[in-house]
Amino acid sequence: MSSSSKTPLALYIHWPFCRAKCPYCDFNSHVAQDIDHARFAAAYHREMAHMAAHYGAGRKLVSIFFGGGTPSLMPPSLVAGIVAEAERLFGLSDDVEITAEANPTSSEAAMFEGFHAAGVNRISLGVQSLRDEGLAFLGREHSADEARNAISAARQHFARVSIDLIYAQRGQTAAGWVNELREALDLGLTHMSLYQLTIEQGTVFHTRTRRGETLIPPDDQAAEMYEMTNDVMTDAGLPAYEISNHAAAGEACRHNLVYWRAQDWLGVGPGAHGRLTLPDGRLGLATRRSPAAWLEAVGESGHAIDIITEDGRADSVAEWLMMGLRLAEGVSMPAMEARFGSRASWLDETALNRLVESGMLENSDGQLRATPAGRLLLDGILADLMPA
Ligand SMILES: C[S@@+](CC[C@H](N)C(=O)[O-])C[C@H]1O[C@@H](n2cnc3c(N)ncnc32)[C@H](O)[C@@H]1O
Ligand code: SF4
Repeated sequence: MSSSSKTPLALYIHWPFCRAKCPYCDFNSHVAQDIDHARFAAAYHREMAHMAAHYGAGRKLVSIFFGGGTPSLMPPSLVAGIVAEAERLFGLSDDVEITAEANPTSSEAAMFEGFHAAGVNRISLGVQSLRDEGLAFLGREHSADEARNAISAARQHFARVSIDLIYAQRGQTAAGWVNELREALDLGLTHMSLYQLTIEQGTVFHTRTRRGETLIPPDDQAAEMYEMTNDVMTDAGLPAYEISNHAAAGEACRHNLVYWRAQDWLGVGPGAHGRLTLPDGRLGLATRRSPAAWLEAVGESGHAIDIITEDGRADSVAEWLMMGLRLAEGVSMPAMEARFGSRASWLDETALNRLVESGMLENSDGQLRATPAGRLLLDGILADLMPA
């Protein structure tokens, strides 16, 4: 399979297990008692080898991201084996970013030490809240003190530590959230992912909502909290570089930038996704979601790729705009024209001018950007921008 070798290539590794299932979470995560780590290790290596041979085209990796699920439950030797095999199969760029997601309930110093020795150089810690009542509401199994301890343990081993927090929870006031955020900022971190709580299909929160409970504030209150979040974070020197992601200069997550810049990545593990640039569009890959089915398919065929899609030009334009407009940097019009031809053929200029006038978009220095207000209305903006 030929794919463009001009853009960076990243690798996503999905670890599908957690100690408990959180009531708000619809990620592909499962609670299992007996996990055959040796069998998983062999399967990750085989599927990586398949991806490298068929889709890697001799490209070095700029990033590896262990996501989940709860990757901090992986034995460090499993992580070390995957990193070493990725290096052998693809090669790693000199400044490769290797991130692992970690949960405070599995964040012992020995784990961080092992992950560091395995080559991980960035930790993304699922703190979710610095308030015990917020953690209880979210059904988390750790306390705020345990979360703080996990942050300090992570920082002893890693220069780059990010935390996730979830706001816009039932009963949370804007003032209470801002205080919590300021406490998080006092910890001196250089990256934070700040998510508004969303109610996802198939979760316990979804069932409770259907039964009549209200678990999130009204839209206008959530929007006010979003604006306050942006103001507090900007003042603190960690502006939003993406809708929910805030970082000090140079500290953005390079792996996630690959997604939002519509560059190329491969996904290995149960339910992992990949996307690659083709001469006339994009190739999408998705593996089997169920861990058991994934293991079986990899055992039989060397990979568990379940769905392969080929997107044409219009879908690729939509992906560039949709992903790029999430970013503060926006999308580069010259880069898009180099890829898709004159913009008259893929952009509705009248709609563009209207959206600029109404304060949803900015178009300067060749970059098209969504304003903070526009970033909340991207679906509608995209539908307007692309000629029917
Ligand atoms: C794969 S999970 C994280 C890692 C780890 N398993 C943990 O929970 O600590 C990625 C992040 O998505 C966020 N998230 C998941 N479901 C969400 C929801 N319904 N609303 C808002 N954020 C959510 C959480 O902040 C979570 O840390
Ligand atoms: S939020 Fe994290 S720990 Fe909780 S179920 Fe989802 S992936 Fe697992």
